[in-house]
Amino acid sequence: MTDMTKNVTENPIAANAEVGIDSLALYTPAFYIDLVELARKRGVDPDKFTNGIGQDQQAVAPSNQDIVTMGAAAALKALYFSGETEAAGFHDVGLLIVGTESGVDASKASALFVHDLIGLTPWCRCLEIKEACFGGTAALLTAYDYVKAHPDKKALVIAADIARYGLDTPGEVTQGAGAMAMVVSRDPRLMVLEPHSTAYSASIGDFWRPVYTDMALARGKYSTEQYVDFFGKVWKRYGQETGRTLADFAALCFHLPYTKMGMKAFKPVLDAWELLDEGSSGSLRKEPTDRLRDRYRLSTVYSRRVGNIYSGSLYLGLLSLLDNDPSLQEGDRIGLFSYGSGAVGEFFSGILRPGFRQVLHSDHTRAMLDKRFKLAIDSYERVFQDVVPYGPEDFTTTRQLLDKTNPFILDRVEGQERIYRRLGDSPRW
Ligand code: CAA
Repeated sequence: MTDMTKNVTENPIAANAEVGIDSLALYTPAFYIDLVELARKRGVDPDKFTNGIGQDQQAVAPSNQDIVTMGAAAALKALYFSGETEAAGFHDVGLLIVGTESGVDASKASALFVHDLIGLTPWCRCLEIKEACFGGTAALLTAYDYVKAHPDKKALVIAADIARYGLDTPGEVTQGAGAMAMVVSRDPRLMVLEPHSTAYSASIGDFWRPVYTDMALARGKYSTEQYVDFFGKVWKRYGQETGRTLADFAALCFHLPYTKMGMKAFKPVLDAWELLDEGSSGSLRKEPTDRLRDRYRLSTVYSRRVGNIYSGSLYLGLLSLLDNDPSLQEGDRIGLFSYGSGAVGEFFSGILRPGFRQVLHSDHTRAMLDKRFKLAIDSYERVFQDVVPYGPEDFTTTRQLLDKTNPFILDRVEGQERIYRRLGDSPRW
């Protein structure tokens, strides 16, 4: 309990500490499908998928990968990028949270499996947190509060999901798989999180997943309308609470279930700003919207190739923006809109730190995406159906699709318990 007794009021350093994201890392499986090929197989005009939906490729997770193995791979990278090493025992990490809506057990937190695989000290609080795609943000903001209260500690946040709607469903084109991991610390090197945020919650039936299936159910059109509505509400209130306008932001990143979704919500705000422009300060007012539109596009580069990773999608968008926009500078404010069906929407922000580019490992991330193997659609359909059953029977995962970039696999389910294995040393990142 020694740590727990220190709180913000007792510790003046904590009250003033700048807390935020020290490192940010992606893991996505080494297998993907081409969505033009999927469109042809489904008898759909490929332009619908690539332009109407805005997706080019989709990550495919074989049965030996789940949120634990993907999360562990992303977490090890984030820890290495943050300067932590396995040899040193990662002893600074006092909190590990996994945000996910693809949980592998209704009771035991996936964070405990990850904790074991990556070798964290036992003196660490481990938990899983859920609110659909908002789970990653819930984890990040909880970690922020934890580090504010315990500034000598770090928190490890994982947002991992496998988005599954089913073969030949309207949602199939918006599937994907992957994990984002973040180390949250005092004096972070990537982005300081600002304390003000605006959240809005309402119980609605736009998207859900009953406990007996791994495939989500969605009221597709309604869910997109709710996303737009939630963003409109939180953006308006955030502006009233902070006095900030679009001009205060270098870029806005959105939860991206598919890359056209964020812009559906952003466009009305951009258009309204441009209308205000008329009769006032002319092109000076137009300039932020051109820049914001362009940076929105850069935030979607990775999602176009990975697809929806639910709780991690917003952070995949942030990584994409940081890796692909060389014009961003220290001190730039980035707005982040998180949406989790069911539903919660929250808008918050961060400020880029001096030297933030040195923490990014852009070449590694691009190489990971470029070196993936393309699956034919027939193979993808077989992989899609080769999954851990929702039942008590034993199951051994595939050995045909092993990803050499991830040292962790789900080996089998035996006696209703999941058995994970580490196949070798960590790759050097
Ligand atoms: N060429 C170019 N564009 C075309 C086209 C063609 N030949 N044919 C259609 N399009 C366009 C349509 O005009 C439409 O564009 P707009 O959205 O700008 O109007 C777009 O392609 C999609 O067409 P449809 O609306 O007809 O697509 P659909 O009915 O097949 O469903 C979907 C699309 C609702 C997104 C569906 O994929 C789905 O249900 N996805 C899962 C739910 C989802 O992602 N919801 C998002 C909000 S909820 C959330 O964010 C949480 C989460 O992660 C799930």
